[in-house]
Amino acid sequence: MNFLEAMKFRHACKIFDENKKISAGEFDFILEAGRLSPSSTGLEQWDFLVVQNPQLRQKIRAVSWDQPQITTCSHLVVILAKVAEVKGVGKYVEKMIKRREDKAPDIIGDRKKFYGDFLTGRFGGNDELIYHWSSKQCYIAAANMMTAAASLGIDSCPIEGFDEAALNGILGLDTSKQRVAIVVPFGYRLKPQPKKYRREINDVVKWIY
Ligand SMILES: Cc1cc2nc3c(=O)[nH]c(=O)nc-3n(C[C@H](O)[C@H](O)[C@H](O)COP(=O)(O)O)c2cc1C
Repeated sequence: MNFLEAMKFRHACKIFDENKKISAGEFDFILEAGRLSPSSTGLEQWDFLVVQNPQLRQKIRAVSWDQPQITTCSHLVVILAKVAEVKGVGKYVEKMIKRREDKAPDIIGDRKKFYGDFLTGRFGGNDELIYHWSSKQCYIAAANMMTAAASLGIDSCPIEGFDEAALNGILGLDTSKQRVAIVVPFGYRLKPQPKKYRREINDVVKWIY
């Protein structure tokens, strides 16, 4: 499938065929698309939880508007946004900076200062602001995973329809450290894809010369 074909194939799948499972190799490909996604300042402020436990999925569904995608999908990915680890230059951020073997030690030092100034200057240690910033990166990873899946003929549905506090609780998250950004089930459609509605290109795009 070429790229635009994959974009057109992808739709918010409302129910999956429970008898069809994604192969391990194809699911690795989807995860890899998420892992390779871009992130603000390259901090990859996400973690991917793959929830295959049926009882846990039932509990997630119960706090997610009872959406059937959650229990019928082949693979359920919950993307977690980092909070504490990107609050300032702690162990995680330092590791992310230091891994750059291509950078000289003085550049690494400069970067640590830049990251510290950026993180504290922009978010001032406010968990809510940091969570929203991290979440934006999680959405980019989610989008790439969904398009990657579509390129293989695999369906998905981005899910934001959940009670955030309840879901964080069910997953046993310490919300000062991590919070759920978005839930993405993957699998195979049970029903035909509905017509796609989008604004016209001329309405969406404005050119400035
Ligand atoms: C961030 C986000 C959250 C969404 N949450 C839900 C959801 O909880 N349940 C659902 O069925 N669809 C959800 N959707 C799907 C949208 O309703 C859907 O993408 C949109 O109506 C366009 O339809 P299409 O994706 O099928 O082309 C969400 C989409 C996005 C981008």
